[in-house]
Amino acid sequence: MRAIVAPRYGPPDVLRCEDVPTPVPADDEVLLAVRAASVNPADRMFEAPVPMLRLMTGLRRPKDPRVGHDVAGVVESVGRAVTRFAPGDAVFGVCRGALAEYACAKQSALADMPRGVSFEDAAAAPIAGLTALQGLRDHGRTRAGMDVLINGAAGGVGTFAVQIAKALGAQVTGVCSTRNVELVRSIGADRVIAYSRDDFTRDPQRYDVLLDCVGNRPLTAYRRVLKPGGRCVLVGAPPRIAVMLARIVGAAALSPLSNRKLGAFVARVRAADLEALRDLMASGAVRPVIGRRYAMTEASDAFRELDTRHARGKLVVTVAGTT
Ligand SMILES: NC(=O)c1ccc[n+]([C@@H]2O[C@H](COP(=O)([O-])OP(=O)(O)OC[C@H]3O[C@@H](n4cnc5c(N)ncnc54)[C@H](OP(=O)(O)O)[C@@H]3O)[C@@H](O)[C@H]2O)c1
Repeated sequence: MRAIVAPRYGPPDVLRCEDVPTPVPADDEVLLAVRAASVNPADRMFEAPVPMLRLMTGLRRPKDPRVGHDVAGVVESVGRAVTRFAPGDAVFGVCRGALAEYACAKQSALADMPRGVSFEDAAAAPIAGLTALQGLRDHGRTRAGMDVLINGAAGGVGTFAVQIAKALGAQVTGVCSTRNVELVRSIGADRVIAYSRDDFTRDPQRYDVLLDCVGNRPLTAYRRVLKPGGRCVLVGAPPRIAVMLARIVGAAALSPLSNRKLGAFVARVRAADLEALRDLMASGAVRPVIGRRYAMTEASDAFRELDTRHARGKLVVTVAGTT
């Protein structure tokens, strides 16, 4: 089968589309014929991770050259312990090596495809959708009537977050560039702030929940825009390990000093939450925003666009030969 692999660390140019053996599912896994995948910042481990991370990912070259996690496809065969799926089922979720014609996924990391939704739309959803859902519902404790701000509303996580916050009944403000104001409004934001014109941390409006997908403002400024009892959920940060750690530690240090809470989290892959996303998509409450589609041979281009940190919605890779 053909798969995208990263034989060494480096920029997206290192990616190759190669013939590799078709994987064999473990007992609790299914083998998927991949129809579509999407890319996430976390997939860029091949882009020269810091030395500390290389202890885990491989010192000289990636130990695991497979690329991609978000996937949608059709079950080809199942391991002995798989009870939730059978060959022929259309599913979406998270796996290792999604940018390939075939990939193995644990049954607990998959859900049935939403009815009436394309493989490309479903492949856009898993990591960004789970992050938005868990960030807003569990960590932000978003309830109907709350005021919610999404910083980075036009990106992968942000476009899901705007729609999920609306589905939870919140009043939503989105922050994005001027070129994306109409997009963010079109997916349901009640108010949109263009960051080139206005700084939301200097705005008089206060929020119950701030979901931060960018990490470009001081934590004290985030705290200032929260209502008493409000919560700031840190999802993203500039891709430098020192900055990320400083923000996580800073949030933990600031929170006990006030009744406005700040905290970072990492999304978990749970079947029940994939099913919640499936239902939101099937009902039309959430429609994935796909900024651009790439063929599998153009995977490097997808990562180059992701590296700009200005991708619009999700970047989807359609896997040729199986669609
Ligand atoms: N904690 C977790 O479990 C988890 C899970 C997934 C992702 N993440 C992290 O969350 C972050 C976002 O992920 P993503 O998949 O949404 O990335 P993404 O799709 O690459 O996000 C790009 C978006 O960021 C927006 N942006 C850039 N600068 C901005 C600014 N100054 N103010 C507001 N928006 C700005 C861009 O909008 P404009 O073009 O309009 O500027 C663009 O649409 C990343 O740091 C990622 O690593 C964390």
